[in-house]
Amino acid sequence: MIERLLELKVDALNEIKEVTTLNDLEQIRIKYLGKKGEVILMMSKLRDLPQEERPAFGQQVNLVKNELEQALYDKKQGLEYEELLKVLASEKIDVTLPGTKFYQGTIHPLNQVIEDVEDLFIGMGYEVAEGPELENDHYNFEMMNLAKDHPARAMQDSFYVDENTLLRTHTSPVQARTMLAKKGNPLKIICPGKVYRRDDDDPTHSHQFTQIEGLVIDKNINFASLKDALLKMARHLFGEERVIRLRPSYFPFTEPSVEVDVSYKKKDGSIGWIEVLGAGQVHPNVLTMGGYDPEKYQGFAFGIGVERIAILKYAIDDIRHFYLNDLRFLNQFKGVNK
Ligand code: DAH
Repeated sequence: MIERLLELKVDALNEIKEVTTLNDLEQIRIKYLGKKGEVILMMSKLRDLPQEERPAFGQQVNLVKNELEQALYDKKQGLEYEELLKVLASEKIDVTLPGTKFYQGTIHPLNQVIEDVEDLFIGMGYEVAEGPELENDHYNFEMMNLAKDHPARAMQDSFYVDENTLLRTHTSPVQARTMLAKKGNPLKIICPGKVYRRDDDDPTHSHQFTQIEGLVIDKNINFASLKDALLKMARHLFGEERVIRLRPSYFPFTEPSVEVDVSYKKKDGSIGWIEVLGAGQVHPNVLTMGGYDPEKYQGFAFGIGVERIAILKYAIDDIRHFYLNDLRFLNQFKGVNK
């Protein structure tokens, strides 16, 4: 019996040595050490042996069993390692292959202008506020001191969705919404966003364009506060050498109102003026409707066209370039502000 056991051991060790896959190795384990494995069966034969041979045989079977277990374990480790090497080899990355080109986009020139203006005003303690593009007549016109029959409504030919709802014609309704939200507390905001107007199809106008609204309400706000903010903005956008000029104008939501020109140097060296925005001191009616006592609080406001700034800054000849998503146009604005 001992001989048979040792034969089994030699066979098993040989088979383990030859095997090349983990699967086959498992088969060998089952064949010899599984529940009905040949070595295990040998153990049950103990009973057939004479009493005095049993301990020695029992010991031998255990030794063989241990030896085979060790051999199986070692082989398993070896095969697993080989398999890992194979996987690594098959997944190897060839760093010499040409890569996939990564195209970096650019921030749209209009958004660059908006971010630039936001940075400036945030630095002066303003908050950025936003409002819906589909707006109530109430906020777009009435709270801006343009009652239903106000002739100045005609200045802003509008897209109505129904009698009381329209695509906002300016960012000014965000003023009204913010005033109500602030419940009579001082505020400093700028509001960038898209606005819509039925407009002539000429190269300098579009039915949709972009504005930035500014609004400050506090005690002791006067025209000098407005002029200071506007001059800072003009110089930030167009250069420190610029000066501004205020011309009397009319807006229903401000009183007095001004149009603001920025200076530029003409080719012959003389000074020219370009109109860039509308502004004024907040009309007492607007303050009252927004929940502020005009005897205690004053405010200034301005509204500037983002396209206008970009056109002037970058000498662009047609407003439609901004909306066509032509990469030849957009790629020219890579990092111009940075
Ligand atoms: N809402 C005006 C427009 O779209 C622009 C404007 C002018 C806004 C004067 C203001 C302002 O806040 O004070 O034409």
